[in-house]
Amino acid sequence: MRRGPFRPGDRVQLTDPKGRLHTITLEAGKNFHTHRGHLRHDDLIGAPDGTVVRHSSGADYLALRPLLSDYVLSMPRGAQVIYPKDAGQIVTYADIFPGATVVEAGVGSGALSLSLLRAVGDGGRLLSFERREDFADIARANARAFFGQDHPAWTVTVGDLVEALPQTVEPGTVDRVVLDMLAPWDCLDVVGDALVPGGVLICYVATTTQLSRVAETARRVGGWTEPQAWESLVRGWHLEGLSVRPEHRMHGHTGFLLTLRRLAPDTEAPLRRRRPAPGAYGEDYTPVEDQEWSAEDLGERAVSDKRLRRTRRDAEATAAQRVDPGPSLTDS
Ligand SMILES: C[S@@+](CC[C@H](N)C(=O)[O-])C[C@H]1O[C@@H](n2cnc3c(N)ncnc32)[C@H](O)[C@@H]1O
Repeated sequence: MRRGPFRPGDRVQLTDPKGRLHTITLEAGKNFHTHRGHLRHDDLIGAPDGTVVRHSSGADYLALRPLLSDYVLSMPRGAQVIYPKDAGQIVTYADIFPGATVVEAGVGSGALSLSLLRAVGDGGRLLSFERREDFADIARANARAFFGQDHPAWTVTVGDLVEALPQTVEPGTVDRVVLDMLAPWDCLDVVGDALVPGGVLICYVATTTQLSRVAETARRVGGWTEPQAWESLVRGWHLEGLSVRPEHRMHGHTGFLLTLRRLAPDTEAPLRRRRPAPGAYGEDYTPVEDQEWSAEDLGERAVSDKRLRRTRRDAEATAAQRVDPGPSLTDS
């Protein structure tokens, strides 16, 4: 499906003279119409990938098979998709490998599922959970259109992950779990039971409040390594003659990623040498909304009163040296 001359049924991405993209599915005898005329599918069928075809208006269109990163941005969407920059990081940092058993929730439009299916390959298993049937149908159709058939490694279950996962997998048999949903912290227990010891959980969340809640919940329930979190900003570059500079526009924010690894049964992570923030762990845990916030809660280092007094003295002494006393107001 991804190599050789264009065939009927292939998706082809056309770039017009103004750089606009149009995606078509090839069908013998059909035309692609624009307001200036048309382009014949038959001129593309049998031509190699990377061909230039002439539109009836005389304009040349470049024809290429869309890459996965092109496809996810043009495919029909039910829910917001994970962008290619984040999908790439999820595959790498969740260590998705060929032959792995991977659980994913929710499926949404299926954009991330495509990257996960490619990474596990035909010999792996991707068990995806989506609580909305309409979204699951869109995702299945998107995957079928991309792979040209139902992917042999993929099973989509309609249902809530918390209820459906324990009914679907044996405890301790899942290598990797990927969560892209509003409340991943609600799923930590079932995901922890499903994962093999050492297995990886990666969460994609849109806001810092979700990020904090999933991290603090994992610490409180235990059985996980310390969370690692990050975001990535990708800035495209304009490359034209002497005008080599960052693009003026970029996606300033997509989401945050957080990884955890599952510990062996009845194992607690060694206590960190750093003192945890008050209220972060154990019995004294209080929901964020009930907490009194302090600078230390936000990870800032506390400054002792003694040190503050010294800093103030030093600052005043430096200021006194620098100020030109000049004529005193009372002198006149
Ligand atoms: C942002 S979308 C996922 C997008 C998807 N990763 C993609 O790249 O196309 C989030 C999805 O999670 C689903 N969802 C939320 N909580 C869920 C749960 N507990 N179990 C299953 N699906 C859930 C929602 O219905 C929604 O479709």
